[in-house]
Formats: sequence, C-alpha cells, structure tokens
Amino acid sequence: MNCNVQSVGIIGTGSYLPEQIVTNKDLEQLVDTSEEWIVTRTGIRERRKAPQEMATSDMGAIACERALKAAGITAMEIDMILVATVTPDMPFPSSASLIQDRIGAKNAAALDISAACSGFIYGLAVGSQMIATGMYKHVLVVGAETLSRILDPEDRSTLILFGDGAGAAVLGPVEKGTGILSFDLGSDGAGGQYLYQEAGGSRFPLTVETLEKGQQYVRMNGNEVFKFAVKIMGETSLRALEKIGLTKEDVDFLVPHQANIRIVDAAVKRLKLPSEKVYINLDRYGNMSGASIPVALDEALRENKIKPGDNIVLVGFGAGLTWASCVIRWS
Ligand code: UT7
Repeated sequence: MNCNVQSVGIIGTGSYLPEQIVTNKDLEQLVDTSEEWIVTRTGIRERRKAPQEMATSDMGAIACERALKAAGITAMEIDMILVATVTPDMPFPSSASLIQDRIGAKNAAALDISAACSGFIYGLAVGSQMIATGMYKHVLVVGAETLSRILDPEDRSTLILFGDGAGAAVLGPVEKGTGILSFDLGSDGAGGQYLYQEAGGSRFPLTVETLEKGQQYVRMNGNEVFKFAVKIMGETSLRALEKIGLTKEDVDFLVPHQANIRIVDAAVKRLKLPSEKVYINLDRYGNMSGASIPVALDEALRENKIKPGDNIVLVGFGAGLTWASCVIRWS
C-alpha cells in the first residue's frame, strides 16, 4: 500500500453462530454418507443451521453489533457497510442496506459484494481503499451466509460441507506501518462452471420448471474446486507477502478459508507453517463461505492467538472461481 495514504486496520471484530448443531450422524439419517467419510475427507464434524425465522441480515446484524462494541464505536460512526454473501435475504435490496437499517447506521452507504468465499477479503480491499484515500473513516465489512437454504437435501457432496453463520470487522485508521499491508485478489471466470447456483437470476428465473429440476440449489464439481484450491491458497498468500517484501518465514499466523482440512493442509505445507500458527474451526462450523474467514478471525482474536505486531495472512478461494489474500500487521 502507498505510504502517503492513511494506514488502515481492523479495529474490532464480532461473530454470530446459530445455536442449532447439525452433526455428521444427523446427516447419516438424510443421505448416503458416514461420519467416517466426512471426517476423513473434509475434517468437518458439525455445522450450524439458522432457525427458519432468521435470514442472512439477521445474523449479520448481530455480528456487526458485536464488532462495533469491540471497536468501541457506535453505528452512527460507520460510513459504509459491505456485506460479502452468496445468500442475501433477497436479490434486492442488499443485505447491507437491511443491516444498515437494523443496526441504525444512518450515516452509512451500503452494498453487497458477490465473490463467494473470497468475498470478505474482497470487502476488506474495497473498504480499506475508502479509508486510505480519506473518503471515509470507518467501514464495516461483514461476511454472512445462510447456506442451509440453498443446499439440495439429496446432494451428499454439498450437504455435508456447508454451514450458516456471520462475522464482521470494523475497518478504521491505525498507526503508520501497521494494519493492512497488501492484497492479492483474482478471478478465473472460466471456472464458474464448477460451483454455482443456477436459478433465481435473469438467466433462469424461478419457475415451476427450474424448481422441479432443483436449479435453485448449489451445484459443485468438488474435484475441480479442490484442485484449484490446493494450488491457489499457497500461491496467492505468497504473492501478497512478496508485494511488501515479506516471505513465508515472516508469517506469524494464518487465517484460511475453512473449506476442507486437506485444502488448508496443502496451504500450510506450502507456507511451511507449524499447526499452532494456523486457525481451524471447520470441524465445528463446516464451510460458511463468506462468513468463514471473519468468524475464524474473531475467534482467533478472542482466544488471544494474535498479538500486536504479528504478521497475519488471511486467505480464501471460492466460486467465480475467485481467490483473495491479505497481509495485516496487527495493530
Ligand atoms: O468454498 C469452496 C467450496 N467448495 C469446496 O471447497 C469443495 C472442494 N472439494 C472438496 O472438498 C472435495 O472434493 C469433496 C469433500 C467435495 C469430495 O472429496 P473427494 O475426496 O474429492 O471425493 P470424491 O468427490 O473424489 O469422491 C470419492 C468417493 C466417490 O465414490 P466412488 O466414485 O469412489 O465410489 C463419491 O461418490 O466418495 C463418494 N462421496 C461420498 N461418500 C460418502 C462423495 N460424497 C460423499 C459423501 N459421503 N458425502
């Protein structure tokens, strides 16, 4: 980041996980799968499910209130809300606008970001530029998902992976030399065919026919996404480090997208990190897409895994296909 601009960092985080736990044993009752297969192939033991009356903005709003409290600022001091989600309450208005109303952030601009599991880091990139250039002072970046609503109850390859939850971070000015140091963002649209939700947009509006074909559900070519993920997680992290003259030896803590323990392990191997420098919660929550990284970051902070001065790498990949990584020197 240019040294003549305001340094920007995360000054408070918060998260919300719905209470209902869905175990692998529960899923054994629904589809042809087993606890053993799920744990060995993914590392996931359980995930959360939002109650019927709760949508993405409801969970996001709670995470935001907690992040504001941690940052010690009020909702009125927020200039912009960015919500990374693939499961907005509805196509429009944005979940960001709904959250803005809910938390009373009357001075905030609001928009959603669609970059799937990479969305939270994309949001940090957009929000931090607003502050760095002096346009805004505080931006709330939220990752919130109700993936349980778009899973095919008969598709074992996706049903076992995904969970619901929300995380939020307040971006604000920090001391020079600290805060967000670099980003590496990208997309390979040719890989869009490997992970998508076909119906509900302008190409396939929701009709009786699309619903009968199950086009409203997530469809995934797990093997293709897996191959992409194991390659890109390490590559993008190294690129973000290189941009500011750091190497993998400089990394103090890694907060990866929580998709599959085998994918995280591949990134960890590439970066040669010991396990205590990596945050894992996918065993408890599964893959929460855009919410994965902010929830993991919030938990890591509450567990005192991150200290001032540490070089933190956040890294994710997702539908698009997209990828994103970010280096932060914790303030
Ligand atoms: O945020 C991005 C979201 N997406 C991802 O991160 C997905 C990335 N991909 C993956 O994590 C993995 O590819 C999966 C976990 C989805 C699948 O694991 P895999 O080791 O790639 O398994 P596979 O698809 O190659 O399937 C191996 C076998 C197959 O059976 P056969 O053909 O060998 O008899 C599958 O039919 O496992 C079977 N299988 C299952 N068995 C029990 C697939 N899903 C299941 C299941 N339970 N849930």
